[in-house]
Amino acid sequence: MKSFILNKNLAHLAVLQRIELIDKRLKKLRKLFGRYIFSKIISKHFINIKEVSKNYFKIMEEEFHCIEKYIYSKKNFLSIGAGIGGLELLILSNLSNTHLTFIEKNYISKKIKYGWDESNNEGYNNLHQLKNFILSNKITSDRFRIFDFNKNNFPLNKFEVLLSIYSLDYHYDFNVYYEYIKKVMNNESILIFDTIRPDYFKNIFKFVEVIKEDIDTVHKSKRIICSKFI
Ligand SMILES: C[S@@+](CC[C@H](N)C(=O)[O-])C[C@H]1O[C@@H](n2cnc3c(N)ncnc32)[C@H](O)[C@@H]1O
Repeated sequence: MKSFILNKNLAHLAVLQRIELIDKRLKKLRKLFGRYIFSKIISKHFINIKEVSKNYFKIMEEEFHCIEKYIYSKKNFLSIGAGIGGLELLILSNLSNTHLTFIEKNYISKKIKYGWDESNNEGYNNLHQLKNFILSNKITSDRFRIFDFNKNNFPLNKFEVLLSIYSLDYHYDFNVYYEYIKKVMNNESILIFDTIRPDYFKNIFKFVEVIKEDIDTVHKSKRIICSKFI
């Protein structure tokens, strides 16, 4: 796969989910008009769809390369907070016989607040768009399934790889999923996510390894890979 072509709705969601897709002009407009107008209008109607598609693909390719060596032989994936699912699409198209389960939110907050979300109220996705994006890139419907976080009917099978890229413990507390993750991991499962407190997880998992450091971002987070609950 060499590129993604996003439609206007998908490009809009990508911009809300990946702040680095916003250029200087849009940042200025956000400052000027505030979060509500930005989330509703500017992030949808003032973006260059071609540029967003190109840059989103580039970012997702980098994410894929970051985790590739840990996942290349794995088949059964869970992604918590995948956004429109660019990374997950690359997994499905590059790794044969893989299956992806998504847990995401199906709403866009009126005024998106980026950063730590104590009560985990923020959502910036649309599950219909997520499904369309994966299907329109020639992945068949038997290779993925999507669960709405707010419907509380999560699947209870074990997963080989659990992913949460810039979502769990980056925007909201790990405890939101602690019990669930414990149920769906076995001794061979790996969990990959971004956090500013990697050491905290040494009390929860037997193995914790930092695989990436974001020193340039405001949050200065680290991507970690964890296995074996203590
Ligand atoms: C910053 S975006 C990251 C999206 C994607 N992983 C990426 O790297 O581009 C965070 C995503 O987490 C989702 N989210 C927020 N709370 C969630 C929850 N409790 N369960 C699943 N997804 C959640 C949001 O809707 C949003 O799509």
